Amino acid sequence: MKLLTSIGGWQDWRNAIPSTQSLGLVPTMGALHAGHQSLIARCRQENDICTISLFVNPTQFNDKNDLTNYPSTFEADRNLCEAEGVDAIFFPDYNELYPDDYRYRVSESEVSRMLCGAHRPGHFDGVLSVVMKLLNLARPQRAYFGEKDWQQLQLVKGMVDAFFMPVTIVGCPTVRDTDQLALSSRNLRLSKVHRQKAAAFPRLLTTRVPAEEVAHLLEADGFEVDYVQDFKGRRCAAIHCGEVRLIDNLPLYEKGE
Ligand code: PAF
Repeated sequence: MKLLTSIGGWQDWRNAIPSTQSLGLVPTMGALHAGHQSLIARCRQENDICTISLFVNPTQFNDKNDLTNYPSTFEADRNLCEAEGVDAIFFPDYNELYPDDYRYRVSESEVSRMLCGAHRPGHFDGVLSVVMKLLNLARPQRAYFGEKDWQQLQLVKGMVDAFFMPVTIVGCPTVRDTDQLALSSRNLRLSKVHRQKAAAFPRLLTTRVPAEEVAHLLEADGFEVDYVQDFKGRRCAAIHCGEVRLIDNLPLYEKGE
């Protein structure tokens, strides 16, 4: 497995791959878990070469504390990638990936302002900008994203269509813990008590009542609610459980179901 930290090294490695071989990319911010493992497995199934990027992208954090506290588990991530058969890890630093210091950015003016975007100003500009950089550098045939970040997935698909980018964006099902909490790197930051409490989030989200009522149920359970909203056939929500912000989404039930 190759570990590449510079843009030049990455490009040389990428350019040496014959055009007959397909390449898949799994973009991540590290702190890998079974959700990422499922993206890697799918990427390996569908491509000759499986690559992953590990980069905690500062431009998508609107809250400095959230960035500072974002879990960093590089050695464990590297071991997981090796064990899962990843061919190359791209692990750049900020100056490599942002030679322009973020003067140039990709922005979407509608969907990015709703749901998480309404609570995290600038978040999706940062996400779309870094994803475009990574896709331009890796030139993958396919790139893999989890459905847990449903809004992100829709926006990345929209960007790829809008800019005629030659890549297929593959959305992969959310992986859940035994108590149904969606796996997330942020779960590592939950205290034992809050981790137990967090199990109520997916449970209440599946309650068959209107979104506003789900928000009230979550508040009554002691969560601070950013939003619970139905969007494009999904019920999407973000809450704070202690210090940690959690998001989730599920297919919307049909009335009478
Ligand atoms: O979903 C994530 O981990 C990040 O938002 C992504 C897509 C890797 C961009 O930094």
